[in-house]
Amino acid sequence: MTISDAIKATVGQPGPIGVFDSGYGGLTILRSLKQALPDADFIYLGDNARAPYGNRSFDLIYHFTLEAVRYLFAKGCQLIIIACNTASAKALRTIQQRDLPLLDASRRVLGVIRPTAEIVGELSKTGAIGLVGTPGTVASKSYDIEIEKLHPDLRLYSKACPMWVPLVENMESDSEGADYFVKRDLNDLFSKANDIDTLILGCTHYPLLIEKIRKYSPAGINILPQGDIVSSSLTDYLKRHPEIDTRITRGAVTDYITTEEPDKFSTLAAVFMGAPIKACRVHSLTDL
Ligand code: DGL
Repeated sequence: MTISDAIKATVGQPGPIGVFDSGYGGLTILRSLKQALPDADFIYLGDNARAPYGNRSFDLIYHFTLEAVRYLFAKGCQLIIIACNTASAKALRTIQQRDLPLLDASRRVLGVIRPTAEIVGELSKTGAIGLVGTPGTVASKSYDIEIEKLHPDLRLYSKACPMWVPLVENMESDSEGADYFVKRDLNDLFSKANDIDTLILGCTHYPLLIEKIRKYSPAGINILPQGDIVSSSLTDYLKRHPEIDTRITRGAVTDYITTEEPDKFSTLAAVFMGAPIKACRVHSLTDL
């Protein structure tokens, strides 16, 4: 069956929640989602073969993300969380506005930037917010645009950290190299303003570096990983949208799919999830 036929065959049929990231980072979101919605079924899709996305062009990130959305729809997902800031920044709006009406207007694709931007206003006392993210996320100015819309009084200071995702993907989060890059990039960010009191981890890989991020941040700063923010936003969304909530299957099953080597994925993903997992591989997101 083709992807298009499978999407048509699953219109209106209950299915798992799809969670997508370029690699492992979205697992930090999945972990919180599973805690918030313990009965829900999930499919996690990591495009590890093509990660990292952070330094890639707009066109390519959009193309890869649309492939992932179509693939997860074909697997029956009625709701997808793009658990990747880079893909949320570069592809989400176009997918929501242009592609979704053509694929199946009744399904939903949600991102991680909007819920994060919503919450920062409640947390900062000084009004100065720091953002660390991939070059793609920072260059897109998606956080600047959302925060300006929601909290025009806040000042946002951003720093692109191109080495942080490769460090995590290569299991170097605890290395001296990670110390070097985290310290260097945070020094640069905090030198832009001395009253930053809230730091957005605008990349779902970054919670894996949280100890080093704490070590090189001023004491007392609010550091915001996105897992709990996204899961409480989704819980609230499902309460307000029973028509989507009732289309989630609830057997407490999570499937893990990667475009790279599944044993390597399973080993590292188990560290992120705090439990053993068994992933399977898809060679191309255009095949089922
Ligand atoms: N976890 C992705 C994000 O949140 C990483 C992007 C990448 O692959 O560079 O931005």
